Amino acid sequence: MKAWKPTLVLLLAGWSSQVLAADCSVEIAGNDAMQFDKASISVPQSCKQFTIKLKHSGKMAKNIMGHNWVLTKTADMQGVASDGIAAGLDKSYVKAGDTRVIAHTKVIGGGESDTISFVPSKLKAGEAYSYFCSFPGHSGIMKGTLQLTK
Ligand code: CU
Repeated sequence: MKAWKPTLVLLLAGWSSQVLAADCSVEIAGNDAMQFDKASISVPQSCKQFTIKLKHSGKMAKNIMGHNWVLTKTADMQGVASDGIAAGLDKSYVKAGDTRVIAHTKVIGGGESDTISFVPSKLKAGEAYSYFCSFPGHSGIMKGTLQLTK
């Protein structure tokens, strides 16, 4: 058997470890001070699915200091947040059937968590995406940007 050229082997090894290392999930926490612990999230395009685990690291109840994680185009954020307030806590502050919403968790209170997944290939390269908490009054502070990466 012919030995592989070392450079080629290294290239292939580097390529495969990058693919395997693609991190297709992230944990983000909201607290009692109305803050997310991340200001941005990177989503590799190579992921078939990307999973968000939202945790509430505080102690306050969900009707007082509830948090969710809602993903939209940045341009849609304001409208989705406004309509979400009208939808109410029972609907996790997301208007039913809102097609601008790419993914969202339910609203959780202190000590709780919720996990959702979405398909990165449905996001467009070059489009600006943001995530935020749609609990009334939270989206001004509890928000971040989501980047699609290679
Ligand atoms: Cu919140």
